[in-house]
Amino acid sequence: MNSCTIIILGATGDLAKRKLIPALYSLIANKKCEKFVFVGSAIDETTIDVVLDNAKEFIPSVDEKIWNEIAQSAYNQKLDFTIEKDFVNLDTYITELEKKHNLSGNRIVYLAALPSFFCEITEHCASSGLVKKTSRQDAFWHKIVYEKPFGWDLESAKAINACIKKYFHEDQIFRIDHYLTKEVVGNIALVRFANTVFEPIWNNHYIDQVSIFLEEKVCIEGRGTYYDKYGALRDVVQNHMLELLALVAMEAPKMLTGDYIRDQRVNVLKDTEFIDGILGQYDGYKKEEKVNPDSTTDTFASLLLKVNNKRWSGVPFYLKTGKCLGKKLTEIKITFKKIDCLLLKGCAVSSNCLTINIYPKGTFSLCLNAKKPGFLTEVTPVEMEFCHSCLFAELSPESYEVIFQEVMRGEQSISVRFDEIEQLWKITDKIIEKNLPVFPYKKESTGPKEAGDFEKKYGIILRPAGEAGVKK
Ligand code: BG6
Repeated sequence: MNSCTIIILGATGDLAKRKLIPALYSLIANKKCEKFVFVGSAIDETTIDVVLDNAKEFIPSVDEKIWNEIAQSAYNQKLDFTIEKDFVNLDTYITELEKKHNLSGNRIVYLAALPSFFCEITEHCASSGLVKKTSRQDAFWHKIVYEKPFGWDLESAKAINACIKKYFHEDQIFRIDHYLTKEVVGNIALVRFANTVFEPIWNNHYIDQVSIFLEEKVCIEGRGTYYDKYGALRDVVQNHMLELLALVAMEAPKMLTGDYIRDQRVNVLKDTEFIDGILGQYDGYKKEEKVNPDSTTDTFASLLLKVNNKRWSGVPFYLKTGKCLGKKLTEIKITFKKIDCLLLKGCAVSSNCLTINIYPKGTFSLCLNAKKPGFLTEVTPVEMEFCHSCLFAELSPESYEVIFQEVMRGEQSISVRFDEIEQLWKITDKIIEKNLPVFPYKKESTGPKEAGDFEKKYGIILRPAGEAGVKK
Protein backbone atom coordinates (compact mmCIF):
# COMPACT_ATOMS: atom_id res chain seq x y z
CA MET A 1 0.00 0.00 0.00
CA ASN A 2 1.40 3.41 -0.88
CA SER A 3 1.55 5.69 2.10
CA CYS A 4 3.04 9.11 2.44
CA THR A 5 3.12 12.35 4.37
CA ILE A 6 2.58 15.37 2.14
CA ILE A 7 4.00 18.58 3.57
CA ILE A 8 3.28 21.88 1.86
CA LEU A 9 5.57 24.75 2.83
CA GLY A 10 3.58 27.85 1.94
CA ALA A 11 0.20 26.29 2.69
CA THR A 12 -1.64 29.61 2.93
CA GLY A 13 -0.49 30.73 -0.51
CA ASP A 14 -2.24 30.86 -3.84
CA LEU A 15 -0.67 27.71 -5.28
CA ALA A 16 -1.67 25.60 -2.29
CA LYS A 17 -5.29 26.69 -2.32
CA ARG A 18 -5.86 26.72 -6.08
CA LYS A 19 -3.84 23.71 -7.16
CA LEU A 20 -2.05 21.64 -4.53
CA ILE A 21 -4.88 20.94 -2.08
CA PRO A 22 -7.40 20.29 -4.89
CA ALA A 23 -4.81 17.87 -6.39
CA LEU A 24 -4.45 16.18 -3.03
CA TYR A 25 -8.22 15.79 -2.96
CA SER A 26 -8.21 14.12 -6.40
CA LEU A 27 -5.35 11.89 -5.38
CA ILE A 28 -7.32 10.60 -2.42
CA ALA A 29 -10.64 10.49 -4.29
CA ASN A 30 -9.02 8.47 -7.09
CA LYS A 31 -7.40 6.17 -4.54
CA LYS A 32 -3.89 6.93 -5.77
CA CYS A 33 -2.65 7.39 -2.24
CA GLU A 34 -4.29 5.06 0.22
CA LYS A 35 -2.77 6.11 3.51
CA PHE A 36 -1.61 9.65 4.08
CA VAL A 37 -1.12 12.61 6.36
CA PHE A 38 -1.21 16.16 5.07
CA VAL A 39 0.64 18.90 6.92
CA GLY A 40 0.26 22.52 5.83
CA SER A 41 2.92 24.93 7.08
CA ALA A 42 3.21 28.67 6.68
CA ILE A 43 4.22 31.73 8.62
CA ASP A 44 0.61 32.90 9.06
CA GLU A 45 -1.39 32.18 12.20
CA THR A 46 -4.13 29.96 10.86
CA THR A 47 -5.83 26.63 11.39
CA ILE A 48 -5.99 23.59 9.17
CA ASP A 49 -9.75 24.11 8.80
CA VAL A 50 -9.15 27.54 7.27
CA VAL A 51 -6.40 26.19 4.99
CA LEU A 52 -8.72 23.44 3.74
CA ASP A 53 -11.80 25.64 3.46
CA ASN A 54 -9.92 28.17 1.32
CA ALA A 55 -9.12 25.43 -1.15
CA LYS A 56 -12.58 23.86 -1.21
CA GLU A 57 -14.02 26.34 -3.70
CA PHE A 58 -11.37 25.30 -6.24
CA ILE A 59 -12.55 21.69 -6.27
CA PRO A 60 -15.27 21.26 -8.91
CA SER A 61 -17.47 18.85 -6.94
CA VAL A 62 -16.64 17.80 -3.44
CA ASP A 63 -17.64 14.43 -2.04
CA GLU A 64 -18.08 15.23 1.66
CA LYS A 65 -17.07 11.71 2.70
CA ILE A 66 -13.67 12.09 1.01
CA TRP A 67 -13.33 15.65 2.26
CA ASN A 68 -13.85 14.45 5.84
CA GLU A 69 -11.33 11.70 5.32
CA ILE A 70 -8.79 14.35 4.31
CA ALA A 71 -9.76 16.67 7.16
CA GLN A 72 -9.16 13.87 9.67
CA SER A 73 -5.60 13.39 8.45
CA ALA A 74 -4.74 17.05 7.93
CA TYR A 75 -2.70 19.19 10.29
CA ASN A 76 -1.22 22.62 10.41
CA GLN A 77 2.05 23.80 11.93
CA LYS A 78 3.28 27.38 11.91
CA LEU A 79 6.71 27.76 10.37
CA ASP A 80 9.01 30.61 9.42
CA PHE A 81 11.20 29.65 6.43
CA THR A 82 14.15 31.50 7.95
CA ILE A 83 14.11 29.81 11.39
CA GLU A 84 15.83 26.45 11.58
CA LYS A 85 14.24 25.61 14.94
CA ASP A 86 10.81 25.72 13.27
CA PHE A 87 11.94 22.95 10.91
CA VAL A 88 13.23 20.88 13.83
CA ASN A 89 9.84 21.27 15.51
CA LEU A 90 8.03 20.39 12.30
CA ASP A 91 10.12 17.24 11.90
CA THR A 92 9.35 16.18 15.51
CA TYR A 93 5.65 16.89 14.96
CA ILE A 94 5.56 14.89 11.74
CA THR A 95 7.45 11.96 13.22
CA GLU A 96 4.76 11.78 15.93
CA LEU A 97 1.98 11.97 13.33
CA GLU A 98 3.60 9.23 11.27
CA LYS A 99 3.61 6.99 14.35
CA LYS A 100 0.03 7.89 15.22
CA HIS A 101 -1.20 7.14 11.69
CA ASN A 102 1.06 4.12 11.32
CA LEU A 103 2.80 5.47 8.21
CA SER A 104 6.02 4.17 6.69
CA GLY A 105 7.91 7.46 6.85
CA ASN A 106 7.71 8.38 3.14
CA ARG A 107 7.60 12.17 2.77
CA ILE A 108 7.01 14.71 0.03
CA VAL A 109 8.00 18.25 0.96
CA TYR A 110 6.54 20.70 -1.56
CA LEU A 111 8.07 24.18 -1.63
CA ALA A 112 5.23 26.48 -2.65
CA ALA A 113 7.49 29.40 -1.82
CA LEU A 114 9.39 32.20 -3.49
CA PRO A 115 12.59 30.92 -5.17
CA SER A 116 14.62 33.37 -3.07
CA PHE A 117 13.84 31.07 -0.09
CA PHE A 118 14.68 27.80 -1.88
CA CYS A 119 18.27 27.49 -0.64
CA GLU A 120 17.55 28.48 2.95
CA ILE A 121 14.52 26.19 3.17
CA THR A 122 16.58 23.34 1.70
CA GLU A 123 19.35 23.85 4.24
CA HIS A 124 16.84 23.81 7.10
CA CYS A 125 15.04 20.76 5.69
CA ALA A 126 18.37 18.90 5.58
CA SER A 127 19.79 19.99 8.94
CA SER A 128 16.53 19.35 10.80
CA GLY A 129 16.07 15.90 9.24
CA LEU A 130 12.69 16.92 7.82
CA VAL A 131 14.05 15.71 4.47
CA LYS A 132 16.74 13.05 4.77
CA LYS A 133 19.17 12.02 2.06
CA THR A 134 17.47 8.74 1.20
CA SER A 135 18.60 6.03 -1.23
CA ARG A 136 16.85 3.12 -2.88
CA GLN A 137 18.17 0.79 -0.14
CA ASP A 138 16.28 2.73 2.56
CA ALA A 139 12.96 1.44 3.85
CA PHE A 140 11.35 4.82 3.17
CA TRP A 141 11.90 7.73 0.79
CA HIS A 142 11.95 11.51 1.14
CA LYS A 143 11.40 13.78 -1.89
CA ILE A 144 11.67 17.55 -2.18
CA VAL A 145 9.73 19.48 -4.80
CA TYR A 146 10.52 22.98 -6.10
CA GLU A 147 7.77 24.91 -7.87
CA LYS A 148 8.75 27.06 -10.84
CA PRO A 149 10.26 29.54 -11.50
CA PHE A 150 13.53 27.94 -10.43
CA GLY A 151 15.43 31.15 -9.59
CA TRP A 152 15.16 34.72 -10.75
CA ASP A 153 17.83 34.57 -13.45
CA LEU A 154 20.58 32.20 -14.59
CA GLU A 155 22.96 33.13 -11.79
CA SER A 156 20.42 32.68 -8.99
CA ALA A 157 19.22 29.40 -10.55
CA LYS A 158 22.80 28.11 -10.55
CA ALA A 159 23.25 29.15 -6.92
CA ILE A 160 20.02 27.39 -5.87
CA ASN A 161 20.97 24.25 -7.74
CA ALA A 162 24.46 24.14 -6.22
CA CYS A 163 22.86 24.59 -2.80
CA ILE A 164 20.29 21.82 -3.11
CA LYS A 165 22.70 19.35 -4.73
CA LYS A 166 24.82 19.48 -1.56
CA TYR A 167 22.06 17.89 0.47
CA PHE A 168 20.07 15.52 -1.72
CA HIS A 169 20.46 12.94 -4.47
CA GLU A 170 19.17 14.06 -7.88
CA ASP A 171 16.44 11.39 -7.75
CA GLN A 172 15.00 13.07 -4.63
CA ILE A 173 14.80 16.47 -6.31
CA PHE A 174 11.82 17.52 -8.47
CA ARG A 175 11.86 20.85 -10.34
CA ILE A 176 8.32 21.43 -11.47
CA ASP A 177 6.79 23.00 -14.54
CA HIS A 178 3.16 21.91 -14.38
CA TYR A 179 2.69 22.48 -18.13
CA LEU A 180 4.78 19.41 -18.83
CA THR A 181 2.26 17.22 -17.01
CA LYS A 182 -0.79 18.51 -18.88
CA GLU A 183 -2.28 15.70 -20.94
CA VAL A 184 -2.59 17.71 -24.17
CA VAL A 185 0.98 18.97 -23.83
CA GLY A 186 2.17 15.41 -23.26
CA ASN A 187 0.51 14.54 -26.56
CA ILE A 188 2.45 17.06 -28.66
CA ALA A 189 5.56 14.92 -29.11
CA LEU A 190 3.53 11.76 -29.59
CA VAL A 191 1.22 13.23 -32.22
CA ARG A 192 4.25 14.69 -34.03
CA PHE A 193 6.38 11.60 -34.07
CA ALA A 194 3.90 8.71 -34.02
CA ASN A 195 2.06 9.83 -37.18
CA THR A 196 3.74 9.68 -40.56
CA VAL A 197 1.78 12.67 -41.87
CA PHE A 198 3.48 15.37 -39.78
CA GLU A 199 7.24 14.80 -39.74
CA PRO A 200 7.85 15.24 -43.51
CA ILE A 201 6.23 18.70 -43.47
CA TRP A 202 7.48 19.78 -40.02
CA ASN A 203 10.11 22.20 -41.29
CA ASN A 204 10.75 25.53 -42.96
CA HIS A 205 9.82 24.22 -46.42
CA TYR A 206 6.21 23.88 -45.35
CA ILE A 207 5.75 25.81 -42.11
CA ASP A 208 5.38 29.56 -42.37
CA GLN A 209 5.23 30.49 -38.69
CA VAL A 210 4.51 29.17 -35.20
CA SER A 211 2.54 31.11 -32.58
CA ILE A 212 2.16 30.25 -28.92
CA PHE A 213 -0.49 31.98 -26.83
CA LEU A 214 -0.87 31.92 -23.06
CA GLU A 215 -3.53 34.54 -22.52
CA GLU A 216 -5.29 34.89 -19.19
CA LYS A 217 -8.43 36.59 -18.05
CA VAL A 218 -7.30 36.54 -14.42
CA CYS A 219 -5.17 39.42 -13.18
CA ILE A 220 -2.59 38.88 -10.44
CA GLU A 221 -5.14 37.67 -7.88
CA GLY A 222 -3.47 38.95 -4.72
CA ARG A 223 -0.05 37.60 -5.72
CA GLY A 224 1.58 41.06 -5.74
CA THR A 225 4.59 40.14 -3.59
CA TYR A 226 5.61 37.43 -6.02
CA TYR A 227 4.38 38.85 -9.30
CA ASP A 228 5.78 42.35 -9.01
CA LYS A 229 9.27 40.91 -8.67
CA TYR A 230 8.90 38.37 -11.47
CA GLY A 231 6.54 39.68 -14.16
CA ALA A 232 5.26 37.77 -17.18
CA LEU A 233 8.70 36.99 -18.61
CA ARG A 234 9.87 35.14 -15.51
CA ASP A 235 6.42 33.84 -14.49
CA VAL A 236 5.37 32.05 -17.67
CA VAL A 237 7.71 32.77 -20.61
CA GLN A 238 10.87 31.35 -19.00
CA ASN A 239 9.11 28.07 -18.30
CA HIS A 240 5.69 27.18 -19.75
CA MET A 241 5.97 29.04 -23.05
CA LEU A 242 9.55 28.16 -23.91
CA GLU A 243 8.87 24.53 -22.99
CA LEU A 244 5.97 24.53 -25.47
CA LEU A 245 8.28 26.01 -28.10
CA ALA A 246 10.85 23.32 -27.37
CA LEU A 247 8.26 20.54 -27.77
CA VAL A 248 7.14 21.90 -31.13
CA ALA A 249 10.64 22.57 -32.45
CA MET A 250 12.76 19.71 -31.07
CA GLU A 251 14.26 16.97 -33.23
CA ALA A 252 12.96 13.42 -32.91
CA PRO A 253 14.14 11.77 -29.71
CA LYS A 254 15.54 8.23 -29.96
CA MET A 255 12.53 7.11 -27.95
CA LEU A 256 9.52 8.96 -26.60
CA THR A 257 10.66 8.63 -23.02
CA GLY A 258 11.68 11.15 -20.37
CA ASP A 259 15.42 11.59 -20.79
CA TYR A 260 15.51 11.34 -24.58
CA ILE A 261 12.79 14.00 -24.84
CA ARG A 262 14.61 16.18 -22.31
CA ASP A 263 17.86 15.89 -24.31
CA GLN A 264 16.09 17.09 -27.45
CA ARG A 265 14.37 19.94 -25.64
CA VAL A 266 17.74 21.12 -24.32
CA ASN A 267 19.30 20.88 -27.80
CA VAL A 268 16.66 22.99 -29.48
CA LEU A 269 16.68 25.56 -26.68
CA LYS A 270 20.42 26.00 -27.31
CA ASP A 271 19.54 27.06 -30.86
CA THR A 272 16.72 29.38 -29.83
CA GLU A 273 17.33 33.10 -30.02
CA PHE A 274 15.28 36.15 -29.08
CA ILE A 275 14.79 38.68 -31.89
CA ASP A 276 12.42 41.42 -30.80
CA GLY A 277 9.48 42.12 -28.53
CA ILE A 278 7.34 44.51 -26.58
CA LEU A 279 5.95 44.32 -23.07
CA GLY A 280 2.81 45.66 -21.45
CA GLN A 281 1.23 46.42 -18.10
CA TYR A 282 -2.53 46.49 -17.50
CA ASP A 283 -4.21 49.66 -16.30
CA GLY A 284 -4.68 49.53 -12.54
CA TYR A 285 -1.81 47.09 -11.97
CA LYS A 286 0.13 49.63 -9.89
CA LYS A 287 -2.83 49.84 -7.50
CA GLU A 288 -2.92 46.09 -6.87
CA GLU A 289 -2.19 44.94 -3.33
CA LYS A 290 1.54 44.59 -2.55
CA VAL A 291 2.61 46.10 -5.87
CA ASN A 292 5.05 49.03 -6.02
CA PRO A 293 3.04 52.14 -7.05
CA ASP A 294 5.83 52.99 -9.54
CA SER A 295 6.18 49.45 -10.81
CA THR A 296 7.31 48.84 -14.38
CA THR A 297 6.74 45.08 -14.12
CA ASP A 298 5.48 43.41 -17.29
CA THR A 299 2.09 41.71 -17.17
CA PHE A 300 2.09 41.20 -20.94
CA ALA A 301 4.68 40.12 -23.50
CA SER A 302 4.66 39.85 -27.25
CA LEU A 303 7.90 38.25 -28.45
CA LEU A 304 9.56 37.06 -31.61
CA LEU A 305 12.15 34.29 -31.49
CA LYS A 306 13.91 32.15 -34.02
CA VAL A 307 15.44 28.70 -33.95
CA ASN A 308 18.83 28.67 -35.63
CA ASN A 309 19.01 25.27 -37.23
CA LYS A 310 18.43 23.67 -40.61
CA ARG A 311 14.85 22.68 -39.84
CA TRP A 312 13.66 26.09 -38.70
CA SER A 313 15.82 28.68 -40.42
CA GLY A 314 13.57 31.58 -41.49
CA VAL A 315 10.50 30.50 -39.47
CA PRO A 316 9.33 33.06 -36.88
CA PHE A 317 8.22 31.76 -33.49
CA TYR A 318 5.80 34.22 -31.93
CA LEU A 319 4.93 34.13 -28.20
CA LYS A 320 2.09 36.14 -26.71
CA THR A 321 1.03 36.17 -23.07
CA GLY A 322 -0.77 38.50 -20.72
CA LYS A 323 -2.76 38.83 -17.52
CA CYS A 324 -6.14 40.56 -17.28
CA LEU A 325 -6.94 40.07 -20.97
CA GLY A 326 -10.37 39.53 -22.50
CA LYS A 327 -10.22 35.74 -22.40
CA LYS A 328 -8.28 32.70 -21.26
CA LEU A 329 -6.64 30.90 -24.13
CA THR A 330 -3.65 28.56 -24.22
CA GLU A 331 -2.88 27.51 -27.73
CA ILE A 332 -0.17 26.67 -30.23
CA LYS A 333 -0.82 27.51 -33.84
CA ILE A 334 1.35 26.13 -36.61
CA THR A 335 0.62 27.96 -39.85
CA PHE A 336 1.67 26.26 -43.07
CA LYS A 337 2.73 28.03 -46.24
CA LYS A 338 0.05 29.01 -48.70
CA ILE A 339 -0.50 26.83 -51.70
CA ASP A 340 0.24 28.12 -55.22
CA CYS A 341 -2.72 29.89 -56.80
CA LEU A 342 -2.52 28.14 -60.14
CA LEU A 343 -5.60 26.00 -59.67
CA LEU A 344 -7.98 28.54 -58.23
CA LYS A 345 -9.41 31.80 -59.46
CA GLY A 346 -8.32 34.72 -57.25
CA CYS A 347 -6.50 32.35 -54.93
CA ALA A 348 -9.02 32.68 -52.14
CA VAL A 349 -7.43 29.91 -50.08
CA SER A 350 -6.41 30.17 -46.46
CA SER A 351 -3.17 28.72 -45.14
CA ASN A 352 -3.53 25.30 -43.57
CA CYS A 353 -2.92 25.34 -39.89
CA LEU A 354 -2.59 22.90 -37.05
CA THR A 355 -4.00 24.32 -33.85
CA ILE A 356 -3.19 22.63 -30.56
CA ASN A 357 -5.64 24.07 -28.09
CA ILE A 358 -4.58 23.35 -24.53
CA TYR A 359 -7.31 25.52 -23.01
CA PRO A 360 -10.30 25.76 -23.16
CA LYS A 361 -11.01 23.03 -25.70
CA GLY A 362 -8.24 20.46 -25.40
CA THR A 363 -8.14 19.77 -29.15
CA PHE A 364 -5.84 19.24 -32.10
CA SER A 365 -7.44 20.70 -35.20
CA LEU A 366 -6.33 20.96 -38.76
CA CYS A 367 -7.78 23.70 -40.92
CA LEU A 368 -8.14 22.81 -44.57
CA ASN A 369 -9.57 24.30 -47.73
CA ALA A 370 -12.61 22.51 -49.15
CA LYS A 371 -14.98 23.07 -52.04
CA LYS A 372 -17.88 25.35 -51.37
CA PRO A 373 -21.06 23.38 -52.11
CA GLY A 374 -22.63 24.39 -55.41
CA PHE A 375 -19.48 26.04 -56.80
CA LEU A 376 -16.82 24.47 -58.95
CA THR A 377 -13.71 26.27 -57.77
CA GLU A 378 -14.82 28.34 -54.79
CA VAL A 379 -13.20 27.48 -51.54
CA THR A 380 -14.48 27.32 -48.00
CA PRO A 381 -12.32 26.78 -44.90
CA VAL A 382 -13.13 23.66 -42.85
CA GLU A 383 -11.69 22.03 -39.76
CA MET A 384 -10.80 18.45 -38.83
CA GLU A 385 -10.63 17.97 -35.10
CA PHE A 386 -9.25 15.49 -32.58
CA CYS A 387 -11.01 16.44 -29.38
CA HIS A 388 -8.75 15.14 -26.66
CA SER A 389 -10.94 16.48 -23.88
CA CYS A 390 -14.11 14.85 -25.35
CA LEU A 391 -12.49 11.46 -25.78
CA PHE A 392 -10.29 11.32 -22.73
CA ALA A 393 -11.61 13.82 -20.15
CA GLU A 394 -12.43 11.12 -17.64
CA LEU A 395 -8.97 9.61 -17.99
CA SER A 396 -7.07 12.90 -17.86
CA PRO A 397 -5.98 13.88 -14.36
CA GLU A 398 -5.14 17.51 -13.60
CA SER A 399 -1.47 18.37 -13.84
CA TYR A 400 -0.79 18.72 -10.10
CA GLU A 401 -2.45 15.38 -9.40
CA VAL A 402 -0.04 13.86 -11.92
CA ILE A 403 2.83 15.66 -10.21
CA PHE A 404 2.01 14.20 -6.78
CA GLN A 405 1.45 10.77 -8.24
CA GLU A 406 4.72 10.73 -10.20
CA VAL A 407 6.74 12.18 -7.32
CA MET A 408 5.39 9.36 -5.15
CA ARG A 409 6.41 6.83 -7.82
CA GLY A 410 9.81 8.50 -8.18
CA GLU A 411 9.23 9.17 -11.89
CA GLN A 412 12.00 11.65 -12.63
CA SER A 413 10.83 12.47 -16.14
CA ILE A 414 8.34 15.00 -14.75
CA SER A 415 11.19 16.97 -13.19
CA VAL A 416 12.88 19.60 -15.36
CA ARG A 417 16.58 18.79 -15.56
CA PHE A 418 18.91 21.56 -14.52
CA ASP A 419 20.69 21.81 -17.90
CA GLU A 420 17.28 22.60 -19.40
CA ILE A 421 16.57 25.25 -16.77
CA GLU A 422 19.93 26.82 -17.62
CA GLN A 423 19.01 27.13 -21.29
CA LEU A 424 15.58 28.53 -20.43
CA TRP A 425 17.19 31.22 -18.28
CA LYS A 426 19.84 32.01 -20.91
CA ILE A 427 17.08 32.89 -23.40
CA THR A 428 14.99 34.77 -20.83
CA ASP A 429 17.94 36.74 -19.46
CA LYS A 430 18.70 37.90 -23.01
CA ILE A 431 15.12 39.18 -23.35
CA ILE A 432 15.26 40.91 -19.96
CA GLU A 433 18.64 42.54 -20.76
CA LYS A 434 17.02 44.36 -23.68
CA ASN A 435 14.87 46.48 -21.35
CA LEU A 436 11.95 46.26 -23.74
CA PRO A 437 9.39 49.08 -23.64
CA VAL A 438 6.39 48.46 -21.37
CA PHE A 439 3.12 49.82 -22.83
CA PRO A 440 -0.13 50.22 -20.90
CA TYR A 441 -3.24 48.27 -21.91
CA LYS A 442 -6.84 48.14 -20.88
CA LYS A 443 -8.19 45.29 -18.77
CA GLU A 444 -10.21 42.74 -20.79
CA SER A 445 -8.52 43.84 -24.02
CA THR A 446 -6.15 41.94 -26.32
CA GLY A 447 -3.13 43.83 -24.96
CA PRO A 448 -1.45 47.14 -25.82
CA LYS A 449 -2.17 48.58 -29.26
CA GLU A 450 1.59 48.48 -29.88
CA ALA A 451 1.31 44.68 -29.82
CA GLY A 452 -0.89 44.92 -32.92
CA ASP A 453 1.74 47.09 -34.64
CA PHE A 454 4.41 44.60 -33.61
CA GLU A 455 2.48 41.67 -35.08
CA LYS A 456 1.92 43.59 -38.33
CA LYS A 457 5.59 44.53 -38.54
CA TYR A 458 6.61 40.87 -38.46
CA GLY A 459 3.69 39.51 -40.48
CA ILE A 460 2.34 37.47 -37.59
CA ILE A 461 -0.98 35.88 -38.51
CA LEU A 462 -3.22 35.70 -35.48
CA ARG A 463 -6.08 33.26 -35.30
CA PRO A 464 -9.23 34.41 -37.06
CA ALA A 465 -11.44 36.64 -34.91
CA GLY A 466 -13.93 34.78 -32.76
CA GLU A 467 -11.98 31.53 -32.67
CA ALA A 468 -11.53 29.61 -29.35
CA GLY A 469 -11.06 31.26 -25.97
CA VAL A 470 -13.54 31.70 -23.19
CA LYS A 471 -14.07 34.35 -20.59
CA LYS A 472 -12.90 32.75 -17.37
C1 BG6 B 1 1.54 29.56 -13.29
C2 BG6 B 1 1.76 31.05 -13.21
O1 BG6 B 1 2.75 28.88 -13.35
O2 BG6 B 1 0.77 29.27 -14.45
C3 BG6 B 1 0.43 31.77 -13.17
O3 BG6 B 1 2.50 31.36 -12.05
C4 BG6 B 1 -0.44 31.36 -14.34
O4 BG6 B 1 0.61 33.18 -13.17
C5 BG6 B 1 -0.52 29.85 -14.44
O5 BG6 B 1 -1.73 31.90 -14.13
C6 BG6 B 1 -1.22 29.40 -15.70
O6 BG6 B 1 -1.43 28.03 -15.63
P1 BG6 B 1 -2.68 27.34 -16.32
O7 BG6 B 1 -2.49 25.89 -16.06
O8 BG6 B 1 -3.91 27.91 -15.65
O9 BG6 B 1 -2.62 27.71 -17.76
